[in-house]
Amino acid sequence: MSRSPSIPDRPHRDIDSDLPDDERLEALRGHYEDLVDVNEQLSAQLDDAEDRRERLQGKVDRIERENEMLKSSSLYIATVEDVLDDEQVIVKQHGNNQEVLTDVSSRMIDRVEPGDRVAVNDSFAIQTILNAETDARAQSMEITEKPEVTYDDIGGIDEQVREVREAVEQPLAEPELFAEVGIDPPSGVLLYGPPGTGKTMLAKAVAHETDATFIKMAGSELVRKFIGEGSRLVRDLFEMAREREPAIIFIDEIDAIATRRTESKTSGDAEVQRTMMQLLSEMDGFEARGEIRIIAATNRFDMLDRAILRPGRFDRLIEVPEPDESGREQILEIHTREMNIADDVDFADLAADTDGYSGAEIESLATEAGMFAIRNDRDEVTHADFVDALEKIEEDDSSDVVSSAGYFYQ
Ligand SMILES: Nc1ncnc2c1ncn2[C@@H]1O[C@H](COP(=O)(O)OP(=O)(O)OP(=O)(O)O)[C@@H](O)[C@H]1O
Ligand SMILES: [Mg+2]
Repeated sequence: MSRSPSIPDRPHRDIDSDLPDDERLEALRGHYEDLVDVNEQLSAQLDDAEDRRERLQGKVDRIERENEMLKSSSLYIATVEDVLDDEQVIVKQHGNNQEVLTDVSSRMIDRVEPGDRVAVNDSFAIQTILNAETDARAQSMEITEKPEVTYDDIGGIDEQVREVREAVEQPLAEPELFAEVGIDPPSGVLLYGPPGTGKTMLAKAVAHETDATFIKMAGSELVRKFIGEGSRLVRDLFEMAREREPAIIFIDEIDAIATRRTESKTSGDAEVQRTMMQLLSEMDGFEARGEIRIIAATNRFDMLDRAILRPGRFDRLIEVPEPDESGREQILEIHTREMNIADDVDFADLAADTDGYSGAEIESLATEAGMFAIRNDRDEVTHADFVDALEKIEEDDSSDVVSSAGYFYQ
């Protein structure tokens, strides 16, 4: 890449001292001119080199600054409160609600407006304006007036359904019952158990049964890049619920923000901690009036920080296990309700052969059996189709080292 300029040859002239004076003078003049020439060439090259040095230095400075910025801790989220005339704005930091007067570069002043969310550094200089896409509030929450799932769609976990109804539905439907007896209903319900056993379904079904708005947020969505953003989302979540009472807040994969404190003290971990603290404080500050219920789910119960299980928080633990044989039979019946099933299909038999299957796996078994019928040009699904489907799933599983169910409990 380096295009080092060629150094001009050193001028050379033989000047005989025996030459007559005028000729010698002429030769010397010629030599002098050669030297001036070379000198010019060299100083042009020097200028060139100087230029390049400056450009490189600029580059180095920029990279150093970027590096510094990357190293210099994370950015904080703030909201622009007011834009003043002289390239100054007032921002309010999320998390501590501190208001700060700060300068804005002329590059940005035209673009900031009150209400904008911005990322600021330690000295409150605005680094970026967060656009609507970064504004996670709208996109990370799923709000449904009435989820489709009903209790009838859930098989094999009747006891869990009963418990959830008692802890979530009843306080919503009959708050006076609790008032009369003089007890507070459980604050939060935690559903835990292996993947695909119906935890999400269960939460949706309760919301379906009541008039409550269902607000779902995945724990992983709460793990955010910017300081203060996760806790802000938690606050938004509860604010949203208060606006839409009665409401059920469902935090799926809560382990993403509520795992036990680890040894490492990286700023990312600290941020996750802060988000969890915000959740706990929202729950603590909650009047158990019954209009807002909180359900969380995890399949990593072993990892959870015990702080979230204290009384007044997720104090009703409900294990949703893999279905037993009769549970599997029920789930099979549920998932074949819409299917054209031949008379020879023996669900009890299939239930016996599907030990260790989760609800989700049974659902895919039914779909797979339907595929066999289609492949054989039939519109009726026979027992043999189910047996073929079972075989296929077992085969797929054994070639798949990380098989689904065991994965999280290894
Ligand atoms: N008990 C069940 N009865 C009927 N269907 C079930 C049951 N459990 C799971 N399913 C089927 O599996 C799908 C996935 O279930 P769901 O999303 O509720 O599992 P989950 O327990 O939340 O899993 P994860 O821990 O992976 O989030 C459901 O849409 C449903 O079709
Ligand atoms: Mg789920």
